[in-house]
Formats: sequence, C-alpha cells, structure tokens
Amino acid sequence: MAYNLLKGKKGIVFGALNESSMAWKIASRAHDEGAEVILSNTAVALRMGNVDELARQLNTKVIAADATKAEDIKNVYEQAMEQFGGKFDFILHSIGMSPNVRKKVPYDDIDYEKFIQTINISGISFHKIIQTAKKMDALNEWSSIVALSYIAAQRTLYEYNDMAEAKALLESIARSFGYIYGREKNVRINTISQSPTPTTAGSGVKGFEGLLDFTSRMSPLGNASADDLADYCITLFSDLTRKVTMQNLYHDGGFSSMGMSKRAMHMYNKSLNCDEC
Ligand SMILES: NC(=O)c1ccc[n+]([C@@H]2O[C@H](COP(=O)([O-])OP(=O)(O)OC[C@H]3O[C@@H](n4cnc5c(N)ncnc54)[C@H](O)[C@@H]3O)[C@@H](O)[C@H]2O)c1
Repeated sequence: MAYNLLKGKKGIVFGALNESSMAWKIASRAHDEGAEVILSNTAVALRMGNVDELARQLNTKVIAADATKAEDIKNVYEQAMEQFGGKFDFILHSIGMSPNVRKKVPYDDIDYEKFIQTINISGISFHKIIQTAKKMDALNEWSSIVALSYIAAQRTLYEYNDMAEAKALLESIARSFGYIYGREKNVRINTISQSPTPTTAGSGVKGFEGLLDFTSRMSPLGNASADDLADYCITLFSDLTRKVTMQNLYHDGGFSSMGMSKRAMHMYNKSLNCDEC
C-alpha cells in the first residue's frame, strides 16, 4: 500500500545491482511513494547487473560512479540537479564490498591493501557522498541521508571479517557528519542496521545460510526482509522523522536485544549429543 509519503521529493539511490539488492527495493518503494529517484552504481555493476531494467520501471536514468571518487559523485549530483531542476531531498548509500571477504582471506592473516579498499569502498565513500553534497549545497533543508549497516559493527560475528570495521566507521560518520550537517542545514543522517538478507553482497559472507537460520530463530519477529527494510527506509526519507538524526537504527526483528531464544536453544540442544549432556 502506498501513502504518498514522498510526494514531491527527489532523491539519489546508490547501490542497486539487481532485483535482490536492498537499494533496488528501496528505490522502487520510494517511487511508489511519489518520489523522483535517480540511480547510481559503478560502471562494472551497470554492465553486470540489470539496473537499466529498474531505471525503465522508474522512468529515470542511471549515472555511473565509483563512490570512492569524489569527482564521480560530483558528476552524479550535477546531472541529478539538472534533471530535478534544483536541489534534492534524500540520498541512500547502499554500498559495500570487501576484497578480503571476496577472496576468502582470513581476518588474522588479512591483506592490508585489501583492508584499505574495504574501508574506502564501504566506509569512506559515505563521507564522500555527504561531503560532496554539502560542498555543492545540493540538498534541501530537512533532507535525509541513510546508509545501510550491520550489527557486526557492535558484536563479533563469525566470518564477517573486515566489513565489521567498515560498518563501525559508517555508523561513526553518521554521528560526526550528522552533527555538522544538522547544525548548519537541518539535514539528518542515520544508518539502518539490517538483518542478514539474501543479496549478492550478503550471500558472499561464508556460512550465510546458517546465519540466516540462526538470526531468524533468535529474533522474536523473524528476520527483516529487503521489502520490510524498504518500508522502514521510506519513513526515514519522509517528513515524519524530521528530528531523527545521528542514530544507528536496528531493523532486525529484535535480534540486537536478544541473548538466547527458545527456538535457537531448541536447535542447539538438538545438535548436542545428549548422552554426553
Ligand atoms: N545483505 C545483507 O545481509 C546486509 C545486511 C546488513 C547491511 N547490508 C548492507 O547493505 C548494503 C547493500 O548491500 P546488498 O546486501 O543490497 O548487496 P548488493 O550486492 O546488491 O549491493 C552492494 C552494492 O555496492 C555496490 N558497490 C560496490 N563497490 C562500489 C563502489 N566503489 N562505488 C559504488 N558502488 C559500489 C555494488 O555495485 C552493489 O550494487 C551494503 O552496505 C551492505 O553491507 C547488507
């Protein structure tokens, strides 16, 4: 159901690759809610994914940009402002990649060049997206910027590797820049800490199927899906959340507040050899 929550708003969504991407669902939902959306992803992703299909559905365009390059981001904003006829109202950062995870390099034998790339792509790009917007004065007052995070920023999760550090940085940038951009332009900046979700990036984490089952059993409301996330994200882009800023907002069915659940304990007990219990 659509509520016209974003009627008249304009925004940029970074990171839609294919139908399973969280950015894909969020861009579609924003469009359904009345927003004009422009899409951006790397040139490689544009070749490998099917973002053009989404652009057709949303009657918009896709602008290639490597989010580690400020000049690419500037070009996205320039083109977007031309199309929008002025400033815009929201930005989604849905970007993450770890070459260490991709190459299965263990955390205790990490490749530091790759580590820097992880931080650059998944963390510092958020700062660049915000800083470039501020320098260009590209956002209207009371705009909203959102990035997607994961609980590995606070807790250690098996095999999440150096993405944990990238997410900790991402959440910190939301606080540090949220203060400055809020103080000067009433722009709010938040991160959403999402349940594990089957996407191209998510499925790259070793043992992902088991993780999905575990978090679902641990969460009283079950895992939050990409569609659930899109609903939540729309509220953050809307005028209904104008005083929410500098927050890391858990969207995980309750997982982050749990220690042990009945459903997870049941599974754990089943796996024990009870002759030895
Ligand atoms: N899937 C999960 O379980 C999960 C959970 C919590 C948070 N997240 C986060 O959600 C975000 C979106 O990931 P997703 O799960 O939808 O997977 P996805 O693979 O669909 O999206 C990741 C995107 O990052 C883009 N990207 C990589 N390098 C880039 C660069 N240099 N410049 C611009 N874009 C670049 C990719 O092209 C891709 O579109 C990521 O930040 C991810 O860490 C994912």
